[in-house]
Amino acid sequence: MAERAKLAVVTGASSGIGLELAKQCIEHGYDLIIASDTEEILEAAAVLRGLGGTVEAVQADLATRIGIDQLYTTVARQGRPVDVLMANAGRGLGEAFVDQDFADIQRVIDTNVFGTTYLLHRFLRDMRNRNEGKVLITGSIAGAMPGAFQAVYNATKAYVDSFAYALRNELKDTDITVTCLMPGPTDTDFFETADMLDTKVGTDKKDDPAMVAKKGFDAMMRGEGHEVTGFANKMQAMMANIMPDDALAEMHRKMAQPGTAKH
Ligand SMILES: NC(=O)c1ccc[n+]([C@@H]2O[C@H](COP(=O)([O-])OP(=O)(O)OC[C@H]3O[C@@H](n4cnc5c(N)ncnc54)[C@H](OP(=O)(O)O)[C@@H]3O)[C@@H](O)[C@H]2O)c1
Repeated sequence: MAERAKLAVVTGASSGIGLELAKQCIEHGYDLIIASDTEEILEAAAVLRGLGGTVEAVQADLATRIGIDQLYTTVARQGRPVDVLMANAGRGLGEAFVDQDFADIQRVIDTNVFGTTYLLHRFLRDMRNRNEGKVLITGSIAGAMPGAFQAVYNATKAYVDSFAYALRNELKDTDITVTCLMPGPTDTDFFETADMLDTKVGTDKKDDPAMVAKKGFDAMMRGEGHEVTGFANKMQAMMANIMPDDALAEMHRKMAQPGTAKH
């Protein structure tokens, strides 16, 4: 009997790291269900089909229960187990906390914290019942440091990073692996969406999303716990473990405060 094609679900696959993760899945023979909030997911699906992939696109707001249920139902309709789940959708937000619009703040928390948590709860139960599956969660090295002028975002990523480690431990006696991808600044739409193009971190040279995705995919396939991408980011993550939080917040201010861009 022919072996069935494996199925991967990738959230936030319309651009950036998620689109590159989806390309990795195709390269490794997975069929795909991809999701994001805007119509751009349909364009991404067309690009991925052009690479030879079998792709279903779901346009859904993954900051909401309804959106995640919509994705879950689409997957269930295929009647196939999910072999790989990549919880990657996320968004940032620059500026000083008190200057941010609260609706934007809530959107970051709902997408990164609520959405990631509910998505994992829905899909991990099925994996646990089958005792099979690989999960890649996109956290960030931002989660290791207090993010002055990106305070809410860094706090959400501290949640995501911590959550991923805890889930990995809870599932260690099963055949399910949980890997946390922890990129540093990466060249995607992230900084424009976060309104951070007038900051040092927003204008500095960044990592290639294709490289970041490949490292994350490979780490997931090896079943590793976490992957910090790039030497400079590994150093920064190490520093974050030994530097006092006040000093880390001050360092972050120098990268993320509006007006710090090098022109
Ligand atoms: N770029 C960096 O420097 C960096 C560093 C560390 C970690 N990360 C993390 O990497 C992940 C991917 O970000 P990226 O850098 O690739 O940025 P990106 O190009 O802006 O991609 C973000 C993706 O998330 C989707 N998304 C955002 N909110 C959503 C929502 N409510 N519902 C559904 N989809 C939603 C976007 O889709 P739509 O546009 O269609 O809404 C898009 O596909 C995020 O979790 C981010 O926190 C990024």
